[in-house]
Amino acid sequence: MSVCYMTHPLIKHKITLMRNEKTSTKEFRNLVEEVAMLMGYEALSDLQMIETTVKTPIEETKQPVIAGKKLAIVPILRAGLGMVSGIQALVPSARIGHIGLYRDPETHEPHEYYCKLPEPIEERQIVVVDPMLATGGSAIAAVDFIKQHGGKQIKFMSIIAAPEGVKALTQAHPDVQLYVGCLDRCLNENAYICPGLGDAGDRIFGTK
Ligand code: PRP
Ligand code: URA
Repeated sequence: MSVCYMTHPLIKHKITLMRNEKTSTKEFRNLVEEVAMLMGYEALSDLQMIETTVKTPIEETKQPVIAGKKLAIVPILRAGLGMVSGIQALVPSARIGHIGLYRDPETHEPHEYYCKLPEPIEERQIVVVDPMLATGGSAIAAVDFIKQHGGKQIKFMSIIAAPEGVKALTQAHPDVQLYVGCLDRCLNENAYICPGLGDAGDRIFGTK
């Protein structure tokens, strides 16, 4: 698996703002969207292109356009939802799938409650999004589901990752390209990322 760590100052700056416990829900949600867009710009640099014919005021010419309908953005619910609009702003014709997973608070094991992917999933470039890659359990389960449904070309974008999650995901799915906004120090005893930003879903949706 190739792992790409973001180095752009704008991404670093915005992630620092996200970490601040005083950042409001509205600001946090905007930052998630902006970071997703900036990371999407990087992650989609090898996006499939097709030729189209365009008539300029001078002449007809064949020029490249993004094969946008071939892209599937797949957020892991809930927190991944916050990243969708940022990437969709870059590729408005991208199709959206959803995978519902939650971590059991005691065991930290992921549990699936929803999965709906755009067909034909086997032909699409798939970008799975979730702001947090902690133990890696949710990411691995999400990629497992996508592969079971026939998905092949898979990228995974997380804004903050723990070394434990990067290791687990790269070992379980070495074919998946991983894009990480910032690699943090470690997990704590509750499997939260340190220093992290707390519970991403709660901060996006204002549920705590
Ligand atoms: C969070 C986060 C990831 C998962 C990461 O979701 O958005 O999906 O935890 O942890 P892991 O790498 O240890 O699996 P959570 O289960 O809290 O659900 P939520 O998005 O509905 O809040
Ligand atoms: N999920 C989160 O939202 N935050 C963490 O730090 C770990 C898992």
